[in-house]
Amino acid sequence: MMRRLYTGAPMPAIGLGTFGSDSVSAEEIAAAVKGAAEVGYRHFDCASVYGNEDRIGVALREIMAGGVRREDLWIASKLWNDKHGEDDVIPSCRRSLAGLQLDYLDIYFVHWPFPNYHPPGCDVESRSPDARPYIHENFMRTWRKMEELVDLGLARHIGTSNMTIPKLELLLRDARIRPAVNEMELHPHFQQPELFAWVRAHGIEPVGYCPVGSPNRPARDRTPQDTVDIEDPVIVEIARRLGIHPAVVCIKWAIQRGQTPIPLSTRRSHYEANLRGLSSDPLTGEDMRRIAAIDRNCRLIKGQVFLWKQDQSWEDLWDPDGVIPS
Ligand SMILES: NC(=O)c1ccc[n+]([C@@H]2O[C@H](COP(=O)([O-])OP(=O)(O)OC[C@H]3O[C@@H](n4cnc5c(N)ncnc54)[C@H](OP(=O)(O)O)[C@@H]3O)[C@@H](O)[C@H]2O)c1
Repeated sequence: MMRRLYTGAPMPAIGLGTFGSDSVSAEEIAAAVKGAAEVGYRHFDCASVYGNEDRIGVALREIMAGGVRREDLWIASKLWNDKHGEDDVIPSCRRSLAGLQLDYLDIYFVHWPFPNYHPPGCDVESRSPDARPYIHENFMRTWRKMEELVDLGLARHIGTSNMTIPKLELLLRDARIRPAVNEMELHPHFQQPELFAWVRAHGIEPVGYCPVGSPNRPARDRTPQDTVDIEDPVIVEIARRLGIHPAVVCIKWAIQRGQTPIPLSTRRSHYEANLRGLSSDPLTGEDMRRIAAIDRNCRLIKGQVFLWKQDQSWEDLWDPDGVIPS
């Protein structure tokens, strides 16, 4: 099953995530990429900050040597926050391409709309003295270079991630090349109905990260208020009735709702089950209505480390009340 982007290009409606957090090695992720391609995945969600693109590149080479054509793959990568500078965007994309052993990406995302760097694995309370709020002029300088990547043929599409409606409105006003996809956190307890509807109404496909609710995310990304999608009674009940894991119910819901989930699993039985979620009997209308009603507005990836002032709340990153704070 394919999503059709505004350019007419087809994007596979499920992908494999490749962020190993702090617990899964680059080798294990690369092995999952190879195994997932064997069972039928064609979409892989990569990023330079995941620190594993060179290993994944070896897996991709093997996948293509095994007969999968480049044009049948959908490979995404992302520009990290410390590379928003005008001179950094194109070299960063080229570095990802070299690691992945590709000559073009299907899509290159700006990973976060903030140019705020923090060292990998740092404490959520740490703040960089150079951190900045969202400054649209600066973001547009980065975006002009993203557009150049399309002109150069290094990326077929460009996209955004971790955006909000106010920021996307500004971007659509000023972009020469519009984002084709917005990657955003989406799972039953965090459905973002407004942003989800907005991007679709504006011809932007939503890709949903943490589709299972990221049950194994690192401790630094957990707060006591967080809820657990795969333990929700509605999800568990549907899973029991269908004889599938609650994670697969989350995947089926995502696909049927219209987003493209990118679950990570390094276990073949799990990533196979997720892929089967695409073709097995759909959830009923009643199931879809019941899941729509369990939204808890529970954002898991809050982004605290990208805040630019002390004593700020993470909500400020997400433009509360539709206003971009300075
Ligand atoms: N753009 C961004 O800022 C951003 C942010 C976060 C994530 N992402 C992307 O989104 C991807 C997915 O997010 P995520 O990995 O945090 O969360 P996720 O996909 O919601 O959850 C992954 C976890 O769910 C388990 N799981 C998956 N399928 C399962 C199944 N069928 N049965 C049982 N357990 C299952 C996996 O464990 P097992 O390995 O044991 O199966 C894994 O630990 C990332 O890998 C990354 O590519 C992007």
